Order: sequence, then C-alpha cells, then structure tokens
Amino acid sequence: MNLNIALLPGDGIGPEIVGEAVKVLDAVGKKYGHTFNYKKGLVGACAIDATGDPYPAETHKICRESDAVLFGAIGDPKYDNDPSAKVRPEQGLLRMRKSLGLFANVRPLVVFDSLVERSPLKAERVKGADFVCIRELTGGMYFGRPQGRSEDGNTAYDTCVYSREEVERILKVAFEQARKRRKLLTVVDKANVIATSRLWRQIAKEMAPQYPDVQVDYMFVDNAAMQIIQRPTYFDVLVTENLFGDILTDESSVISGSLGLLPSASLGSDVALFEPIHGSYPQAAGKNIANPMATILSAAMLLEHVGLQQEGAAVRAAVEKAIAQGVVTEDLVDASMPGQTARSTTEVGDFVAAHV
Ligand SMILES: NC(=O)c1ccc[n+]([C@@H]2O[C@H](COP(=O)([O-])OP(=O)(O)OC[C@H]3O[C@@H](n4cnc5c(N)ncnc54)[C@H](O)[C@@H]3O)[C@@H](O)[C@H]2O)c1
Repeated sequence: MNLNIALLPGDGIGPEIVGEAVKVLDAVGKKYGHTFNYKKGLVGACAIDATGDPYPAETHKICRESDAVLFGAIGDPKYDNDPSAKVRPEQGLLRMRKSLGLFANVRPLVVFDSLVERSPLKAERVKGADFVCIRELTGGMYFGRPQGRSEDGNTAYDTCVYSREEVERILKVAFEQARKRRKLLTVVDKANVIATSRLWRQIAKEMAPQYPDVQVDYMFVDNAAMQIIQRPTYFDVLVTENLFGDILTDESSVISGSLGLLPSASLGSDVALFEPIHGSYPQAAGKNIANPMATILSAAMLLEHVGLQQEGAAVRAAVEKAIAQGVVTEDLVDASMPGQTARSTTEVGDFVAAHV
C-alpha cells in the first residue's frame, strides 16, 4: 500500500513522540512492503510563532491532501500563563477538528495485565477493563453561540446546541463500533435536566431498532462518572456529547495507570486524525523521557483504519512486549520492582520498531 500521511508534531513533546511513531511506521512499511510518504505541517504554538496562525492554511491543505493525519499535541506555557493572549494554540486544535469535520473522537481504554498494579483503582476492579469512549467533538457547548459576557462583565453564558444530523452521525459511529465489539452501547446523557440530552436519547431510541444485535443502555452522566470507577469492566462502548465526553474520557484514562499509554482517533466524513490523548507535557520537552506509546498506538489505530489490521496488531503486540519486558519510560517504572530502570523515549521507540 502507498499511503500519504500528514504529520503534525505540534508543541512540547510532540516532535519526539511523533518521531518515534514514524520510526515504528517505517518498520511496519519495511516488514510488510508498504510505502508511507510523510508531509509535515505546523499547528499550535509553533505555528503561531512561525506564521501568527495556530492552524495555517498550508497545514489544512497538507491534511486534506493526505490519507490520514498523525498529530502529537499542542500547548505551551507561554500561552497557558497569559490568559489575555488573543491568539492561542487551542484555537488551532478546535479549528483543525472543525474544518476537517472530525466529529467523533474514539478513545479505546485497555488495561494491560502487566500494569494492573499501576492503576489507582484496585487490581481486581480494573483487570480486564476494555472499553471505548466515543465523544462528539465538534458540537455542544464548546462551539455553541452565543457565548460570552454581559457588558458589565459580571454574567457569563455558553450555549449548548445539537442538531438531529450531528446526533445521528455520532450515534451511527457508536452503534457500528458496538457491533464490532461486545455489542453493548451505553448512551450517556443528562436527559432528566438538559434539552439537548433529551434529543440525544430520543434519537438513540429511534435508531436502536436498526441495530437489533446491539444492547442499548441509557445512563445519566453523573451515574456514568461513578460507574466507570466502580465497575469499569462493565462497559463496552460509551457515547456522549462533547463536554461530558471531555470529562469522562480523562477520568477513564486514569484507570490504565498512565496518560502516556492512551491513543485516540478522530473520525469524520473526510480525512481521519490519530493522536495521543495527552497534551504537550512541556516539562518533558527535549528531555527524551516522554512515553511515546500513546502515539505509537495511535499509529496502530491509523493502520487499522486504512485496513491494515495485521500491521496494527503487530504494533500493539510489540508495545505489549515492551511493557511486559519493562522497556518503558519513567511514567511506567514501578518503584516496587527493584532493578527496573526507566528507558528513554527513543529506546522505547527503537524496541517497538524492532519487534513489529
Ligand atoms: N490534544 C492536545 O493537544 C492537548 C490535550 C491536553 C492538553 N493540552 C495542552 O498541553 C499543555 C500541558 O497540559 P497538561 O499539563 O494539563 O497536560 P499533559 O497531558 O501535557 O500532561 C499532564 C501530565 O500527564 C503526564 N503525561 C502526559 N503525557 C505524557 C507522556 N507522553 N509520557 C509520560 N507522561 C505523560 C505527565 O505527568 C504530565 O505532567 C497545555 O498547554 C494544554 O493546553 C493539549
């Protein structure tokens, strides 16, 4: 296969972790006879510094002309610590998602057996947890207008808006994911209070008969926040709106023991984008200590998305092998295991690339 991949390393640790994922992709290409062509684009703080725009038109063009996008992370303390900055890296992220039509963020959560003890939850509770959170990404309160402040500055308002079309297309992704997995779909909402949630629930009930093999379960978001901690092994596929999804997916990520392990895919009608769920971890930038596995696993999702299932599985197996053999960065080094030392970002990438 000949695949054109847009690389958007972004800020902080972005270039390092994307570099390791590329190393792994190249090893896959060599082993399985594929050619991956890369084109790099700027996004985030580095794009503001170079062009004044956090998501330049040139980057959008590179993404649109590619078969898939591999993204690192954006964010820089320079902007985080300056609330008055008018142009911000996060605007680039939101604009990128919106203009590429990436309405579904898919975040798988798997607890690796060799890491159950790292989870902040009891091992017997998390062992075997394996679910996918699907978050709506381009609607709801993050994009709804009006949004702002009253003239005197003492009242602020946001608007949560969802159209039937937006809800149907994300639920379709969720039903189809559930169909490919254990066939349990949990629709998370706040239908007892919020009008948009009632629309979500109504549409989910209308669509359910088209997927008779999928069991649908409706759960209020406050209850879901508890259940994810109390019985994470119950869930198969969760689907929810943008704000609830933002919170629940971060909550879920903690279960696995490290943010540095979790990949994601953002899907839409056009090109798909793959990215680790963590941010730019600026404290680690340039130190060769960040965990590249979330980005490497995002590359595995990319391969599977374009139909290279065996190749994706080979990358996952190599990551599992690295974890099982203790070839991990400092975030996964267990103080209770004497003799285990932290490996660098590049050493972990080398190991995974060598074992695909
Ligand atoms: N999608 C994105 O690009 C995205 C997402 C979240 C935050 N951000 C931005 O990232 C910057 C830093 O934000 P933050 O500190 O809240 O979140 P962060 O995810 O960058 O880091 C939080 C903590 O998670 C751990 N961590 C994250 N990635 C890791 C990795 N690869 N290996 C090992 N440990 C890792 C570290 O302990 C780190 O201190 C901010 O500017 C924020 O706006 C960007």
